[in-house]
Amino acid sequence: MAFLDFSDHTIVITGAASGIGLAIAEAFARHGASLELIDRNPEALAAAARSLGIGSKVTTHALDLTDSGQIDALAENLKQRQVVLHALVNNAGIEYPTPLTDASLDAEQKWHNLLHNNVGSMYLLTRALTHLIRKTGTVINQSSIWGLSGVADFSAYVTSKHAVIGLTRSLSWELGKHEIRVNAVCPGWVATDAAMRSMRAMAETSGKSESQTIAEILAKQAIPQLLSPVDIAGTFLFLASPYALAITGQAIVVSNGEVMN
Ligand code: NAI
Repeated sequence: MAFLDFSDHTIVITGAASGIGLAIAEAFARHGASLELIDRNPEALAAAARSLGIGSKVTTHALDLTDSGQIDALAENLKQRQVVLHALVNNAGIEYPTPLTDASLDAEQKWHNLLHNNVGSMYLLTRALTHLIRKTGTVINQSSIWGLSGVADFSAYVTSKHAVIGLTRSLSWELGKHEIRVNAVCPGWVATDAAMRSMRAMAETSGKSESQTIAEILAKQAIPQLLSPVDIAGTFLFLASPYALAITGQAIVVSNGEVMN
C-alpha cells in the first residue's frame, strides 16, 4: 500500500464540524478515505461536509455524544449500511474553567458535564462501535498536553484529558487481542476559533493583551510558532497508517516542543 492511501478505509471522526476535527476530516478526505462525520452542531456539520468538496465520500450524523440513545442509533445506522471501520477518531471536546472558588449553584453539574462530554462520551462511542472496527484498525483519542500536567482553575478539563490517556491505555489492552490499536494525541495550544475565544477570556481575566498572551505561549515552545489544526491532523493520519501498526497505548505529544517526554 502506498504511504497514506486511505481509499478503501472508512473513518469516523467526532467533533468534525470545526477546528482540529475538521482539519482531520480534510486530511483523511485528501487521502481518499470515506468519512462518517459526527457533531452536535448540524449547521456547522453540513457546512464542513460541503467544504470537503465534490467527490468526497462523506456521511454526516448530527448528534450529541453525551446521549447514549443517540450513539446506539448511530451504531445501528452504520450496521444497517454494513459499514466496516478502519479508524474511530474521538476528537470532540469542550473546555471551560471550573475553579474551586466557583460558588454558583450549577458548579458541580458543570464539572460533571465536562467530564461526561470529554471522556464519558468517548467510552460510550468506542463501546458502541468496537464491533464495527476491522482487524488492524485503530481508535485515536484526542487528549491534550493538559492531560499531562496540572492547570489552575481548569480541574475538570485537565482531569478529563488525563482520563482520556487512562482510557486509551486500558482499551489498548482490551482491544489489542483483536489487533486494534488505541492511542491518544496530546496537542499543545492550537489556534482554533474555540481556543482563541478561551485564550482571550484568560487574557482579559489576567489583564494582559492578546498579543502578550500569544507571546507567552510561544516562549514556552522550542519552535516558537503557533500550532495550526493541520499540524495536529498529520499525526492522526500517521497513527491510522500501516506505518504505525506497532504503536498502541501511547500518548503522542504534538506541541512544537512545549512538552518533552
Ligand atoms: P472546537 O470547538 O473547534 O471543535 C470541537 C467540536 O466538537 C465542535 O464542533 C463541537 O460542536 C463538537 N462537540 C463537542 N462536544 C460534543 C458532543 N457532546 N457531541 C457532539 N459534538 C460535540 O475545538 P478544537 O479546538 O478543534 O478542539 C478539538 C479537540 O481538541 C477537543 O477535544 C479539545 O479539547 C482538543 N484540544 C484542543 C486544543 C486547542 O488548543 N485547540 C489543545 C489540545 C486539545
